[in-house]
Amino acid sequence: MTVPFLDLKAQHAEVADEIAQSFARIMANTAFIMGPDCAEFEVEFARFCGVKHCVGVANGTDALEVMLLAAGVGPGHEVILPANTFIATAQAVHRAGARPVLVDVDETHALMDPAQTESRITSKTRALLPVHLYGQTAKMEQFQALAKKHGLLLFEDAAQAQGATRQGQGIGTFGVAAGTSFYPGKNLGCYGDGGAVLTNDPEVARKAGWIRNCGSDRKYNHPVMGFNSRLDTLQAAVLRAKLKRLNDWNEARRKAAARYQQLLVGLPQVKLPGTLEGNVHVWHLFIVRVANRDKVLARLGELGVGAGIHYPTPVHLHDSFKFLGHKRGDFPVSEQLAAEILSLPMFPHITAAQQEETVAALRKALE
Ligand SMILES: Cc1ncc(COP(=O)(O)O)c(C=O)c1O
Repeated sequence: MTVPFLDLKAQHAEVADEIAQSFARIMANTAFIMGPDCAEFEVEFARFCGVKHCVGVANGTDALEVMLLAAGVGPGHEVILPANTFIATAQAVHRAGARPVLVDVDETHALMDPAQTESRITSKTRALLPVHLYGQTAKMEQFQALAKKHGLLLFEDAAQAQGATRQGQGIGTFGVAAGTSFYPGKNLGCYGDGGAVLTNDPEVARKAGWIRNCGSDRKYNHPVMGFNSRLDTLQAAVLRAKLKRLNDWNEARRKAAARYQQLLVGLPQVKLPGTLEGNVHVWHLFIVRVANRDKVLARLGELGVGAGIHYPTPVHLHDSFKFLGHKRGDFPVSEQLAAEILSLPMFPHITAAQQEETVAALRKALE
């Protein structure tokens, strides 16, 4: 590949020394589980997001499940989420014991549609779970209004949006809680799996802290049901080093996105999703829409450009979610996007030359 889809090596080079020192310190102290770096990171990341509490967990899927459980969502409840998302959003709801209820996204932004959300609210609906997809915040003020009107809990899937804001507000501040993921390729990624729950609610934070640690409030005392989903100390140390650079890296992503937008002006066959007014986008992914996507993707690969699809199959068309009883055609925008979207290489250290090469290859692939 001349232009990889994701290159984390340059990112690692910036933090390598700091992380090596932290790892040496942790090895020497042998504080591998819930060591001081975990609590330090939680304080630092909460401050970064402008939220009162952060609870580190083992991955983003668990973060969503733990936040739902901590807020009392479970069997008998319905939780509304978009059909166009990574499967984990729906899986976390199912694992919490609730029923995922899907809605379509709007075509311009590919984000959960508030109008359709309202039409899916029933007497069983307990919560809304919009996803800040591709790096931009969902239409949270509209979901806040819906939650208030119908007496629902509002959550956020913020796996793809660390550092994103809407009207100046950061992730985790719009409703009860947000779950985020530190999978290595995320804007804030660690060196394995990791995740966190963000909340302003001290009770949700306290319960989430118990649930992720086998339901334990103190050693060998288990007031609530839980499981083992602790954030590793070594991962917390990686995240502490990377968090210091996250604003700069998100700014680099914004510059790269602006460069792509300029380079793509001459390619009318390529459609770009819009950025919602009031959003500071963090461009976790740079998505374009093209006809004959699979052919274009294969040709890009031949030309040495790594591209991806996020996501090729909407939630309702996976066998694992057949039990929801949907069929093709139920969420037409999500289905159309799944057929047309292509994610171009995007990472903070991508160079102008790599982006020019990507767009030149895309031009050829579209011929
Ligand atoms: C939107 C969304 N939700 C949830 C997740 C789950 O996170 P993880 O892979 O850390 O479990 C991811 C990332 O993979 C994601 O992109």
